[in-house]
Amino acid sequence: MLDGKKSLFSGMQATGTLHLGNYLGALKNWVELEDEYETFYCVVDLHSITIRQDPAELRRKARSLLTLYIAAGLNPEKNCIYYQSHVSAHAQLSWILSCFTYMGELNRMTQFKDKAAKHVGNINAGLYTYPVLMAADILLFQSDIVPVGVDQKQHIELTRDIAERFNAIYGDVFTIPEPYIMKTGSKIMSLQEPEKKMSKSDENVNATIFLLDDTDTIIRKFKRAVTDSGNEILYLEDKPGIKNLIEIYSIATGKAIKDIEIEFDGRGYGEFKLAVGEAVASMLKPIQERYNQLGQNKDYIDGIIKTNAEKADYYANKTLRKVQKKVGFPERIR
Ligand code: TRP
Repeated sequence: MLDGKKSLFSGMQATGTLHLGNYLGALKNWVELEDEYETFYCVVDLHSITIRQDPAELRRKARSLLTLYIAAGLNPEKNCIYYQSHVSAHAQLSWILSCFTYMGELNRMTQFKDKAAKHVGNINAGLYTYPVLMAADILLFQSDIVPVGVDQKQHIELTRDIAERFNAIYGDVFTIPEPYIMKTGSKIMSLQEPEKKMSKSDENVNATIFLLDDTDTIIRKFKRAVTDSGNEILYLEDKPGIKNLIEIYSIATGKAIKDIEIEFDGRGYGEFKLAVGEAVASMLKPIQERYNQLGQNKDYIDGIIKTNAEKADYYANKTLRKVQKKVGFPERIR
């Protein structure tokens, strides 16, 4: 809770480009939460350097992600969209929390094991303590809910454990956050291997629709989408390819699954794939136009970066000061 309002925190890495699964499973739904919650959407650039990054590229991608948040519909007057590196309280709280986190707990994190296996030449301490920084992100804003994909659930569990441990020693300092796993759109699958989730790092570019793909590219990728044997447009568990396309079409058009089956009765996969491609392209078009417009409006985006960082800094420091006092750091002399 922040100032009597429920609060929400979520973060995304600026590495890689957002794809259709990120949009339908996250961003699109976030837009509806702005009235109910005090929201914080952070571009987590501190987390990004746990893997080696090209500096110019990281800066460009971070700005692109922040712009895309706005283009996708998050009103920056109502949602606090900012860079993690602009609010030093993240790193400060992370240090304190690392003293309340056991190595045994971090050893169990599956994402650490996966990433360590992928980057054997750079298993740095930051990669190891990544979940503590994430806990700091969330707890700084007294977050009630944290919208994330299922892959982040273990990190939220750890955040709750750290918060409860801290509260048990020092009293009610932190709100205990709940993970908030989106119902619709959280299972957008690869267009090439529909048993696998759509991913930004898929080696096959045809598997993934990126938010900034142009209309022709989108339609071409849907035309090439892997479908199942048969040719009926039916939503069935054992037809994962066509099921995924029906799901995407349903979200893009707002049509019910039953109605889609009726609409495409007897019309075949080819026609349906084209319809899905067109629906997705026209859903993304306004976002892309807005993204391009925003890209030309440097002063506007700079203004948002500045005011939102100040807002995040204000709330984050309120929590940090409280924590510093609780653990026994000396008071500041004013
Ligand atoms: N680890 C998250 C991911 O890779 C990103 C993230 C960082 C995050 N801090 C967060 C998500 C806090 C939610 C809340 O997806």
